[in-house]
Amino acid sequence: MASPGFLWGVATASYQIEGAIHADGRLPSIWDTFSATPGKTLGGDSGEHACEHYTRWAEDVDLIADLGVDGYRLSIAWPRVMHADGTPNAAGLDFYRRLLTRLGERGIRRFVTLYHWDLPQHLEDRGGWLNRDTAWRFADYAALVARELRGLVDGWMTLNEPWCSAFLGYGNGHHAPGLADPRYATQAMHHLLLGHGLGLQAIREHDPGTPAGIVANVGRGTTDSSDPADIEAARLYELQHNDWVLQPLLAGRYPADLFERLWPGSAPLVLPGDMDLIRQPLDFLGINYYFRSNLRSDGATGFRDVPLDGVERTQMGWEVYPQGLEDLLRRFKAVYPNLPPVYITENGMASDDAVVDGRVDDPQRQSYLKRHFAAVSAAMDAGVEVRGYFVWSLMDNFEWAFGYERRFGLVHVDYTTQARTLKDSALAFRTFLQQRRAAALPAALTT
Ligand code: FCB
Repeated sequence: MASPGFLWGVATASYQIEGAIHADGRLPSIWDTFSATPGKTLGGDSGEHACEHYTRWAEDVDLIADLGVDGYRLSIAWPRVMHADGTPNAAGLDFYRRLLTRLGERGIRRFVTLYHWDLPQHLEDRGGWLNRDTAWRFADYAALVARELRGLVDGWMTLNEPWCSAFLGYGNGHHAPGLADPRYATQAMHHLLLGHGLGLQAIREHDPGTPAGIVANVGRGTTDSSDPADIEAARLYELQHNDWVLQPLLAGRYPADLFERLWPGSAPLVLPGDMDLIRQPLDFLGINYYFRSNLRSDGATGFRDVPLDGVERTQMGWEVYPQGLEDLLRRFKAVYPNLPPVYITENGMASDDAVVDGRVDDPQRQSYLKRHFAAVSAAMDAGVEVRGYFVWSLMDNFEWAFGYERRFGLVHVDYTTQARTLKDSALAFRTFLQQRRAAALPAALTT
């Protein structure tokens, strides 16, 4: 599939892999606080050590290069690079400078997310994303990083999955900071998106030549029922999961049904000019896709998830449904005529992988990836401009509230020894990339 310019990559995020939470003046983040709170993460796991990437980064760059990918998506930890008074933390910045420089030397394109959920705790203490001021603090941080790391980055992403930050963080409390009220979620979303708009401006001012975008998680919602109320429930699910983020970004407004039907009385406070800031043109849109949900009406204004029997699932319990990725990409293109070029910035699956005789046999992941590559290819054939695809994840890591039990990596991590072992899916991906490279060479060189 895919034209020669198509970019293949792997992805990670700072808090999930770095560890070293006290090193070099890093400040506490909301995920340090949340995971230290009893009952919030599986087994009380936290990112304190994670994959020790902060000290093992050079070895990890070798791993990435060895896979033969074109690109690597990573995130910067805001609490590492900025002191509480807003001044740069030179030691934290040096870590990313070294990492990005080495990646560049190895010919790997660097896609950098500014906010993959690790908000400095001192900002949460002042209201976090419920405080409008946090959007301006994010812009200060974006300006600092774009200024300091300019020339070392091939693509900037402001936020990872604002839906998760707003809804899981403030709407149902499954993620840090653990608050649970839909009115908080809608206000937090608005401030996150404002932060995105202001951050985009800051990046464009300080690193004008580098493409910049944002990453949204999207979900496919269908129903196995023919009852109009259930069909409507599935529509509302997609509205809540996808359009709550995409409509403000691409059309400059929130879906009215969200505040009128789903969560009556929960409209956020929006000030004049806010939507223009949010709707600025994007150089690209990152899409994270994992699964489909089966919905029925909850008998009132909302929907409830009714898991289907007999479908293929992963260790997360998520249904494997590649068709959903194609469906959503086609739908976004139809609904949003100004849809920018897309990167699939995350897709992958968790399985209960173990090293046996030096090998990790993970056939479901190989099959999962192949079927999702095909879905992307089908969407491209239908006219959606997709420029690249990043597997989530390079290696097993701290899967948020699920701790270390859920293994999403192409590379297995033994958390006792920190040994990295390429799973069979990594070997298959490497072979796939080699073949693609060979196919892109002129025949005279390959025969
Ligand atoms: C996404 C997150 C990523 C990872 C995957 C499994 O929602 O962006 O950090 O946890 O899910």
